[in-house]
Amino acid sequence: MEYVLLRHREIPNLKKLDVYREHGGYEGLKKALSMTQAEVIDLIKASNLRGRGGAGFGTGIKWSFIPKNAPDTYVLINTDESETGTFKDRELIENNPHQVIEGALIAAYAIGSRLVFNYMRGEFMDAAYAFEEALQECRAAGIIGQNILGSDYSVDFYTHYGAGAYICGEETALIESLAGNLGQPWSKPPFPAIEGLYSKPTVVNNTETLANVPMIMVNGPDWFKAMGTPQSPGPKIVCISGHVEKPGNYEVTMGMTYRELLAMAGGMRGGKKFKALLPSGGSGPIVVEDALDAPLTYEGLTPFDSVMGSASLIFMDEDTDMVWATLKVIHFFRHESCGKCTPCREGTFWLERVVERVYYGRGTEADIKLLESITSGMKGKCLCALGEFATSPIVSSIKHFLPEYKAKVAAGMNGKVTRAAAAAVR
Ligand SMILES: Cc1cc2nc3c(=O)[nH]c(=O)nc-3n(C[C@H](O)[C@H](O)[C@H](O)COP(=O)(O)O)c2cc1C
Ligand code: SF4
Repeated sequence: MEYVLLRHREIPNLKKLDVYREHGGYEGLKKALSMTQAEVIDLIKASNLRGRGGAGFGTGIKWSFIPKNAPDTYVLINTDESETGTFKDRELIENNPHQVIEGALIAAYAIGSRLVFNYMRGEFMDAAYAFEEALQECRAAGIIGQNILGSDYSVDFYTHYGAGAYICGEETALIESLAGNLGQPWSKPPFPAIEGLYSKPTVVNNTETLANVPMIMVNGPDWFKAMGTPQSPGPKIVCISGHVEKPGNYEVTMGMTYRELLAMAGGMRGGKKFKALLPSGGSGPIVVEDALDAPLTYEGLTPFDSVMGSASLIFMDEDTDMVWATLKVIHFFRHESCGKCTPCREGTFWLERVVERVYYGRGTEADIKLLESITSGMKGKCLCALGEFATSPIVSSIKHFLPEYKAKVAAGMNGKVTRAAAAAVR
C-alpha cells in the first residue's frame, strides 16, 4: 500500500531532513508560503480534513475561527496521547517528525502565528529525541527561524514535555499545563481560538491531523477526498490491540468495516471467538458483534451508541470477563480524573468502588442499579468530556453484559475470585 502518514515504513530514514526533502518534504510549506493565509485556510477547508484527536472537528474551520490580524496567536500540537490503546502519534513523531513539523508550520502561517509548541507526553523519550533532532535540522536549514525558506515569514518552535496525565490531552488542560499552571480544564467558552494560551487566540491540533496537511497542500483537496467517505475523507491510523494476532498501527482509508480491520490484524488470537470491542480506547462505549460491519467513520458507530474517537480498537475475546474489563477501565478514569468538578471526582471514585465490589463477589443486585444511578448523576454534568467518557464502559457493559454482573452477584464470595482477594478490597 502507498502510505500517506506512515511513510517511514516504505522510506528508510525518513526522519532525516535530507531524506524527507528528497521525497517531497517541505514542498507543501513552500506552496503555502506562496499563497495568502486565507487561501491556505480555504484549501484545508475544501479537503474536509477532520481532527484525528477524537472529536472530528473540521480543521480548516477551526483555523478560520482565529481572529484576523491578531497580534499574538499560537499553534499547539497535541502529542499528549494518553488514551488507553492509542499509540499512533508516537509512531509518527519517532519516525516521521518532519511531516508533523511541516503541517504545524503551515497551520502557523495560515493563522499568522509566530510560535508553535508541541506538547508531548513526557514518557515518550525516543519520540522526544527524534523530534528535537528534527527541529534542530530545521533551524540549521532555515525552515524554522527568521524569514523561513527565504520568505518574509518568521516562526519559532518549542517542545514541552508533559508528565503523563491523561487530562492534559484535553485542549484547555493542555494550555494550562503548558503555561505552567495546574493541568485542569476550564469551562468553555471561551474557546481556545478566541482565548487560549496566555489568553491569546490558539489552535490546538492533534499530531496525526497535522501530518495530513502537507500532503493535502501538495496533492490538493480532491486527492484527499478521493479517499474514504464524503463525510469522513482521508487516511486514518488505527491502533489495534487486545486479543488479536497482530496488534499494531494500521494506516487505512476511512470507510473500512471493523470486521475488515480485525481481519487485517490477523483475526482473534488463537482462533478464539470475538466477544466485545472498545472502539475508542476506554472512552468509547463498548460494542458487540452487530457493530463489526459498521464502517470506520466519524458517524459509523452512531447507530450502536458508540464513537470512532481516535480509532484505538481494543478487541476482547470470548474468555474476557467483562466486569473485570470494566473495572480496569473505570480504574483508569478514577485515577486520571483531575478532581476539579464534583460529579467526575466523586462519580469516578464511586463507580470504581462499586464495580470492584461486584467483581470481588461482595455486590448485590442493588449495586447494579446504583452504578446506573451514579452514571446518570454524571452524564451532562461534568466540566469536560473525561467525566462523560468514564460513564461509557459502565453503561455499555451493563447494556450488553448484564448477565455477567448478575452472575457475579449470585455467585458472591463463592465466585472464582478468592476470599483473600475479596478481603483486600475496600
Ligand atoms: C480527557 C481528554 C483527553 C484528550 N486527549 C487527547 C490527546 O491525547 N491527544 C489529542 O490530540 N486530543 C486529545 N483530546 C482532544 C483535545 O481536547 C482536542 O480536541 C484535540 O487535540 C483537537 O485536535 P484535532 O481537532 O486535530 O483533533 C482529549 C480530550 C479529552 C476530553
Ligand atoms: S470532568 Fe473530571 S477531568 Fe474533567 S474537569 Fe471535571 S474532574 Fe476534571
